[in-house]
Amino acid sequence: QAFFRPIHNAAPPSPTNRHTKITVVGAGNVGMAIAQTILTQDLVDEIALVDAKADMLRGEMLDLQHAAAFLPRTTILASSSDYAVTSGSDLIVVTAGARQVPGESRLNLLQRNVALFRGIIPALVKHSPDAILLVVSNPVDILTYVAWKISGFPSNRVIGSGTNLDSSRFRFLLADHLDVNAQDVQAYVVGEHGDSSVALWSSISVGGVPVLSFLERQQIPYEKEMLEKIHREVVDGAYEVISLKGYTSWAIGYSVASLARTLLRDQRSIHPVSVLARGFHGIDGGDVFLSLPAQLGRGGVVGVTNVHMTDEEVQRLKASAETLLELQSQLDI
Ligand code: NAD
Ligand code: LAC
Repeated sequence: QAFFRPIHNAAPPSPTNRHTKITVVGAGNVGMAIAQTILTQDLVDEIALVDAKADMLRGEMLDLQHAAAFLPRTTILASSSDYAVTSGSDLIVVTAGARQVPGESRLNLLQRNVALFRGIIPALVKHSPDAILLVVSNPVDILTYVAWKISGFPSNRVIGSGTNLDSSRFRFLLADHLDVNAQDVQAYVVGEHGDSSVALWSSISVGGVPVLSFLERQQIPYEKEMLEKIHREVVDGAYEVISLKGYTSWAIGYSVASLARTLLRDQRSIHPVSVLARGFHGIDGGDVFLSLPAQLGRGGVVGVTNVHMTDEEVQRLKASAETLLELQSQLDI
């Protein structure tokens, strides 16, 4: 006898709304921070986890499943070797790979993580040919290019988490300086996620007031040094966290969950993320992914906003693109 009996005169179940599924590849510090943030935000019906370490992965899956009584209902699946578990994903977040040891740059991880992507990406594409790929592993901009090349996906469906995180660090530091809520601070960091990122000073506004023109109108001396110092802190921020706790995780978890919400719920919000930047702001040296403020929705990248940049900012962005293109040219992709 069934545990539940249908009520009198009930119709057969009607098809429910479309099932939404996310795969997270790499169940380390970053992958698990992303998975747990997505779970608490009730974003999907199903999460698939993949990691090369079978026992650790099963442990993580069980640990999350044991929280079921406190969370929205979500199916959690995991496999260390069978990518069939990822089938039919709407969004695939790739966090697998080597991470920096204290003092090491992101770019130094390139060769190791490219080799890993050659194994991972084709298997993911085979099982979810219509998914959006969201790359988080470092160096994120070049690996987004690598994922685009290997997957054969159209460029709107391959995105790197890019400077969404750096921009959050920037907004936090500005908010702290001005003693205001970071959610009321608009400000973009663009370019490479990391050392050659570019802070767009003229993009800073607080409660809708553009900060630089306000300071100029009030004839308050332009606080360039203070802004440069804040940008330096953004660039150094990850190195500091890594030297203190060994890795970064919570901020990237929230950053990726916010991207997942925008993408899966077709929010059409603007995020600075790594996109195919060829043709924007005079970047013409080749196919390079770096962060620009992009509008995102259910189909991936809807478009790139025509943000104002000073000549100096454009030069810095182009230098960031050149650095990435130079490294890409050494890859056999
Ligand atoms: P971690 O070592 O904790 O986790 C990496 C996981 O990848 C491990 O569990 C490992 O078993 C798994 N893995 C390795 N090879 C695999 C394979 N072939 N298939 C499946 N899984 C595999 O590292 P972490 O701290 O989670 O960092 C992961 C990556 O994310 C690093 O490259 C790091 O630099 C990057 N990261 C990026 C950002 C960003 O803003 N883009 C932020 C933080 C970290
Ligand atoms: C970050 C990683 C290390 O937290 O890229 O910025």
